[in-house]
This record gives sequence, C-alpha cells and structure tokens, in this order.
Amino acid sequence: MVNVPSIELNDGNKMPQVGFGLWKVENDKAADIVYNAIKTGYRLFDGACDYGNEVEAGQGVARAIKEGIVKREELFIVSKLWNTFHEPEQVEPIVKKQLADWGIDYFDLYVIHFPVAIKYVAPEVRYPPGWFVDGDSKVEYSKASLQSTWHAFEDIQKKGLAKSIGVSNYSGALLLDLFAYANTKPATLQIEHHPYLVQPKILELAKSENVAVTGYSSFGPQSFIDGDMSLAETVPLLFDHPVIKKVADAHSKTTAQVLLRWATQRGLAVIPKSSSQGRLEQNLDVTSFDLTEEEIAEISGLDKNLRFNAPLNWGIPIPLFS
Ligand SMILES: NC(=O)c1ccc[n+]([C@@H]2O[C@H](COP(=O)([O-])OP(=O)(O)OC[C@H]3O[C@@H](n4cnc5c(N)ncnc54)[C@H](OP(=O)(O)O)[C@@H]3O)[C@@H](O)[C@H]2O)c1
Repeated sequence: MVNVPSIELNDGNKMPQVGFGLWKVENDKAADIVYNAIKTGYRLFDGACDYGNEVEAGQGVARAIKEGIVKREELFIVSKLWNTFHEPEQVEPIVKKQLADWGIDYFDLYVIHFPVAIKYVAPEVRYPPGWFVDGDSKVEYSKASLQSTWHAFEDIQKKGLAKSIGVSNYSGALLLDLFAYANTKPATLQIEHHPYLVQPKILELAKSENVAVTGYSSFGPQSFIDGDMSLAETVPLLFDHPVIKKVADAHSKTTAQVLLRWATQRGLAVIPKSSSQGRLEQNLDVTSFDLTEEEIAEISGLDKNLRFNAPLNWGIPIPLFS
C-alpha cells in the first residue's frame, strides 16, 4: 500500500497529505467509492454539506470500519460549514447534523466553506440549501460576521466536535483579519490551486503563520468542464498541456500524477476526486517521486491567475473574489 506522508498542523494534529475529494461523487456510488478508496489506502476524505453525499460517504466509512479494514482514528474526515449556517447559534446544530449524517462523533477538520454568510434555510426546508434562499435565484445575505462564526468554530473545537478547525476560499486580507481576532488560529486553509492559479503570495502568508494549505481542483479546468462551465473551455486542459506531458514522460508518470506532485512538492495537501478505481489508485501515488526544481518552476510558469471556482462563474450573483 502507498505510504502517504502527513502534515503536522499548528494544533499538533496530523493530516494526510493526499486525500479524496467528495464533490460531485454521485449519491448512488458514494458508499462504494469511499469504501474502495479506504481499501486502496486513502485515509482523508474531504466532504461538505453542499456536496449532498455525506450520508452515503458515511456508509462507506462504516462498512470499512465494520470489516476491520480501518479504525475510525486512522481516518481523517473533513467537512465544511455551508454559507447558510454562519450565524453562531447555527454552527453547533449543523455540525451535529452533519456528524449524524456521517455516522461519526467528531470531524478531524471542520472548515468554513466560503467567506460569505447567506440567509439561514432550515434543513427541514431544503438540504443542502444551496446558494439561493428560495432554491431558485434569490440571494439574501445574513448579518453574521466571519468573526462571530469563527468564535463558534472555536467552541465546537472545545466541545470535541471537530479536532481541528480551518477556513476555505479566504483571501490574504480575510486571513490577516482572522489572525487578529482568532483565539485559535486556523489549522488549515483550503484554496483552488493548479498551474493556472498558482497563488504564491497567499501560500507565503500561510507558511509564515504556520497554516497548512490544501489545494483543491488540482487538475484545473477538468473539474469545471464536468460542471459545464464555459470558462474552463477557454484554456487547454492541463492533462494535454505540452509542459505537463513533457515532465510526465520524463518521470514515466501520468500527467495527473505530475500535477499532484507539483502541488505536494510545494508543500500543499491535495484532495483529488475520481470515480474510477484506476485513477483513484494513481492519484494516491504522488509523493514517491520528485520533480526537479526546474520542472516545478516551469509548471508554476503556466500561471494565468485563472480562478474557476468563483460564484460569478457559476451564474451566482455574489462577487466573492472581485
Ligand atoms: N473548498 C472548496 O470550495 C472546494 C471547491 C472545489 C473542490 N473542493 C474539494 O476538492 C476536491 C477536488 O477538486 P475537484 O472535485 O474540483 O476536482 P479534481 O480532483 O481537480 O478533478 C476531478 C476531475 O478529474 C478527473 N480525474 C481524476 N483523476 C484523474 C486522473 N488520474 N486522470 C485523469 N482524470 C482524472 C475526474 O474524473 P473521474 O472521476 O472520471 O476520474 C474529474 O473529472 C473536491 O472533490 C472537493 O472535495 C473544494
């Protein structure tokens, strides 16, 4: 089985450097995929309320534990707070619901999914709630500040509902503000990261504050073509890019493995998603070979500061990254 290194977080917990992302994993396949991923050697699962598959992912985990393939404490289960639950009094109830969905009693890491508070929608009304208060097109913001949500995160950590707490999709400015009010610093930052969005400055800031960074959408446009985003069709697929292909040939690896190794050698954790057993296996084996400094620099040189995962790109009128 592949030996995956761990990253030591600033709270002393250890996070596997390679995990499995659950976005767009179909409900009817999620339990089997998670179970097979555990058998393959994955220990970190990156879930979220918004992915709508936490119940099924939890069933895969339960089966693997029941069969003695893994113990709960060997897994690192990540979930995220959706935007409609930012009011401090909503945080604990929704974490408890998400834990119940997974069938576990703590998350290893719980993350603020996006730095935007939108109006509460009760789980009985619609779950996952999505971006729109009416489930259609109407955006309504909530008055919850990110500071108040973070303090609620500190409380759930104290109560043992999440061993580590972190943030996602934060800018440098939001991180600096968070460092000013946090009693407990975020253990991790999760951001979009691929050769078209290299983000060197926020990585430097995170490193200087000892915040571990997880890169998502490591394959760049691929994941967004799946989501029918026209922006993703404006650039060459990274899998077909001559620079990535040249490096892959030089190491007898796949282009996907090169993209993941480029990120892990830059110190990030990665959480690729795949519905195929073969691809899932190769995506785990991305720390056993090394790219040269020149190859890393050449890949970083493909930067276009091109962000796919912004609400506006999905037709959601929230200028989060503007
Ligand atoms: N915090 C956030 O806001 C946020 C946003 C986006 C994503 N994420 C997290 O990050 C995870 C990963 O990002 P992502 O889902 O955008 O996608 P990704 O992992 O960058 O890409 C997934 C796509 O690549 C394909 N693929 C996977 N492995 C491959 C390989 N070895 N060779 C060729 N194609 C391969 C998959 O197809 P097949 O399934 O057919 O293999 C799928 O089309 C998500 O699942 C989620 O957990 C977080």
